[in-house]
Amino acid sequence: MIKLAPSILSTDFSRLGEAVRLAESAGADLIHIDVMDGHFVPNLTLGPQAVSSIKKATRLPLDVHLMVEDPGFFIPFFHEAGADWISIHAEASTHLHRDITLIKELGRKAGIAVNPATPIQVLHDILKELDYVLVMSVNPGFGGQKFVESTRQKIRELRSWIRGQGLSIPIEVDGGISPANAATLIRDGVEILVVGAAIFAAEDPARVITRLKEIIAEESRP
Ligand code: DX5
Ligand code: ZN
Repeated sequence: MIKLAPSILSTDFSRLGEAVRLAESAGADLIHIDVMDGHFVPNLTLGPQAVSSIKKATRLPLDVHLMVEDPGFFIPFFHEAGADWISIHAEASTHLHRDITLIKELGRKAGIAVNPATPIQVLHDILKELDYVLVMSVNPGFGGQKFVESTRQKIRELRSWIRGQGLSIPIEVDGGISPANAATLIRDGVEILVVGAAIFAAEDPARVITRLKEIIAEESRP
């Protein structure tokens, strides 16, 4: 099943609960939360306390995308706060296997995120351990950036590699996604669409979610 994960990065942070409830009632499958530390990426966002408040505002699983250095240090805090899915960046973790094992031992879904210039080969020795792979289609740090087209080739290669191994690991794509490119990304092999500005910077966010869900339904037909 293809999932829609609205990213709350582009919402008004004084009204986070409202945004999350709107996304849930409009049909979102996950809530994507961007955690930035001001070191790995040039921006600062939300910490475990905010995640714990968001947890109380929705029944949807929280998809926490850690854009932080030394992610292993933070994993237990976000687990405690109620993160259901936790992704860490391949470029930020010195001990990827240790960090992924920790997320899994804590009973959460574990994913690795790769930046646009990071080759997927970095996942070679850990692919089988993953619950999902997050392919960045912008350079992380900000919402509302332009989709990096070379990501498509990466998604196609990753899709055929995963299938070739007899695995069924969903690919999540994050950055510059809107109703204009969602269908073709699904055809490229994406199963989780993260969408930020196209939803929350729109005049009617619920309508954009409805449109994206229609696209997902159309592309899911056999
Ligand atoms: C970027 C974040 C994204 C961001 C996507 O660093 O990881 O999740 O919110 O937002 P849009 O859809 O606006 O590119
Ligand atoms: Zn993200």
